[in-house]
Amino acid sequence: METIEVGLAERAYPIHIGNGLGIGQLARAALPRTRDLMVVTNTTVGPLQLGRVMGSLGEAGFAPRSLELPDGERYKTVDSWMSIHTGLLEAGFGRDCAIVALGGGVVGDLAGFAAATYQRGIPFIQVPTTLLAMVDASVGGKTAFNHPLGKNMVGAFWQPRAVLADLGTLGTLPRRELAAGMGEVIKTAILGDAGLFGELERDSAAAFRLDGDFLLRAVRRCCEIKARVVAEDERERGMRALLNLGHTFGHAVEAFLGFGTWLHGEAVGLGLVMAATLSERRGILPSGVAARIAKLCSECDLPIEIPTEMKDYDFIKFMRHDKKVRDGAVRYVLPVRLGECRVFSDVGDDEVRSLVGEMKGRQATI
Ligand SMILES: NC(=O)c1ccc[n+]([C@@H]2O[C@H](COP(=O)([O-])OP(=O)(O)OC[C@H]3O[C@@H](n4cnc5c(N)ncnc54)[C@H](O)[C@@H]3O)[C@@H](O)[C@H]2O)c1
Repeated sequence: METIEVGLAERAYPIHIGNGLGIGQLARAALPRTRDLMVVTNTTVGPLQLGRVMGSLGEAGFAPRSLELPDGERYKTVDSWMSIHTGLLEAGFGRDCAIVALGGGVVGDLAGFAAATYQRGIPFIQVPTTLLAMVDASVGGKTAFNHPLGKNMVGAFWQPRAVLADLGTLGTLPRRELAAGMGEVIKTAILGDAGLFGELERDSAAAFRLDGDFLLRAVRRCCEIKARVVAEDERERGMRALLNLGHTFGHAVEAFLGFGTWLHGEAVGLGLVMAATLSERRGILPSGVAARIAKLCSECDLPIEIPTEMKDYDFIKFMRHDKKVRDGAVRYVLPVRLGECRVFSDVGDDEVRSLVGEMKGRQATI
């Protein structure tokens, strides 16, 4: 087992990563005096994981109950959030209870926001079961549900007491979900670890073979980088924005196609290729790097082509609605070299038009 600390002073917490983690004992260390625990999961993960997790929590002296939400991004709603509160109230749980979020990013974001709001805030523990949640969503304390007018529009910063990432749970994850997680792994490598990027290039299939050493290293590096950034800038007033590499273009694709058509990590993959191509066109990123990123994304089953029906003006329209717009300017995170990126607010609409034109032109000739 490897442990990383998220250094947030009195809200600091550990991320434990390993195979076959003792969830009960680790939860006990994070919540020494808690008895009442609500394990929030969904109808897919519950049948796979709940028995083991409940047993382990019971052995550690908790009195755990569980609650299964319907599965899917479309259930990341006010109703699901409210149903967690209903479950806690019906169980008669007071302010001394805690929540365990057992699942992917949807469960983690919802259960985390329920923890942030139940009786003005109770502790929670993240037990991520997707690669994407292990390398990204479970770390950093962003919690939310979706509003009909926008994704993650209602939420709070609420840090977990611990993150328990058991790599063994990835064995049942569908390949497409694993690929989506690789989108975030590749993102993190580009923004913070050229060595990891090289490793991914040498053996991009390692994740799909569920190679334990690879997964441990990749999840650890991604968590280390995210933990460092979050510790510096918990509320995204500055450098945390760097974690949005690939997300400005990616969100535009997700919003244009309808959320859920492409998985988030898939949209991030194309977003990485677009950000790198834009950076090369500006003469910032050395030439050839964007092609390496595209090759790696493609090897990981991530789409690298702009959807045919999506036009340059669609990108411009959807990117203007992005949460990251400040004072009317879209803020683009662009790689300046492998392992480093920066925020740019001077990318004009013409530049976006000609980037989309170039990429679509290339696609048409393939
Ligand atoms: N809070 C953050 O910082 C942050 C960061 C990135 C993404 N997110 C959010 O995370 C969500 C995406 O997360 P995700 O990719 O984990 O999606 P998800 O939670 O929808 O999980 C993907 C699918 O895999 C299933 N699943 C989960 N674990 C499994 C397992 N071990 N075996 C078999 N099936 C399993 C789920 O039931 C679901 O069907 C989005 O809502 C996004 O907004 C949050």
